[in-house]
Amino acid sequence: MSPVEYEYLRKLLKDHSGLDLSADKHYLIESRLLPLARKAGLPGIPELVQKMKGGSTALVTQVVEAMTTNETFFFRDKVPFDHFRDSIMPEILQARAGRKSVRIWCAAGSTGQEPYSLAMCLKEMGAALTGWRVEILATDLSQEVLEKSKAGIYSQFEVQRGLPIQMLVKYFKQNGELWQLNADIRAMVQHRQLNLLHDFSQLGTFDVIFCRNVLIYFDQETKINIFGRLARVLEPDGFLVLGAAETVVGLTEDFKPFPDRRGLYRPSGVRAAPAKMAAATATSRFSAAASM
Ligand SMILES: C[S@@+](CC[C@H](N)C(=O)[O-])C[C@H]1O[C@@H](n2cnc3c(N)ncnc32)[C@H](O)[C@@H]1O
Repeated sequence: MSPVEYEYLRKLLKDHSGLDLSADKHYLIESRLLPLARKAGLPGIPELVQKMKGGSTALVTQVVEAMTTNETFFFRDKVPFDHFRDSIMPEILQARAGRKSVRIWCAAGSTGQEPYSLAMCLKEMGAALTGWRVEILATDLSQEVLEKSKAGIYSQFEVQRGLPIQMLVKYFKQNGELWQLNADIRAMVQHRQLNLLHDFSQLGTFDVIFCRNVLIYFDQETKINIFGRLARVLEPDGFLVLGAAETVVGLTEDFKPFPDRRGLYRPSGVRAAPAKMAAATATSRFSAAASM
């Protein structure tokens, strides 16, 4: 691949997904895109670039998807889910006792392990959520991972990563080598394709946003821009959860870290609170919310 072709791909990926590749990631591009080129009947990456320049939007989508990292697993890093169970949900149960509803957004949900981990946490809360309207919205750039997430079917290897055995037995059915999440857990999660680079204000407002292990791939300017827009769709007393290697510190005043709660942030109140109307509109749009 020539420097011009590399630069073309670098810009394309930055513009379409936010992925900020440094100048030395030739091996990554080759390992991910060579199989794609071969599948498209092309001898190599120069021909792939040529075809995209010729206006193949389907190929652009495939290239962007192939370059995303979809690594995830159940209860990844454990701590955020402890925060969810021990800090976030107890506070929400009090703060939303009047309206008995909670909206949660997994902003880069990948193949579903993260939103379904949250769904299982909520299920474990049992009677505390009786009569509550619970929405978990899982979004991702990649349609392919969303399809897998919707199906809720995982390999033996995937269910062995992070998922306590009791939860496997309780919430999954085995089918040969595969395990499928029970329908009631799957029904708690709604799916929607969404690129974080684009406007997401139409989703309404959320009480909790998990946006983990995706901003890490973006440059500073893109992160700042996304934090600004996340702050507008998070309730003033809501919670933002980031990945272990991500932080708002030094990037934005829109959120402040929780003392003693790694990865957990709260709107700083610097920005105007989002309009309640938006939440009402969005709630009716995602009418598949589970009643607990
Ligand atoms: C490493 S996974 C993280 C999954 C999960 N949040 C976790 O922490 O386990 C990153 C996900 O971000 C998605 N992604 C990458 N760029 C995106 C973008 N611009 N908008 C939305 N999702 C994006 C990828 O498709 C991928 O599924």
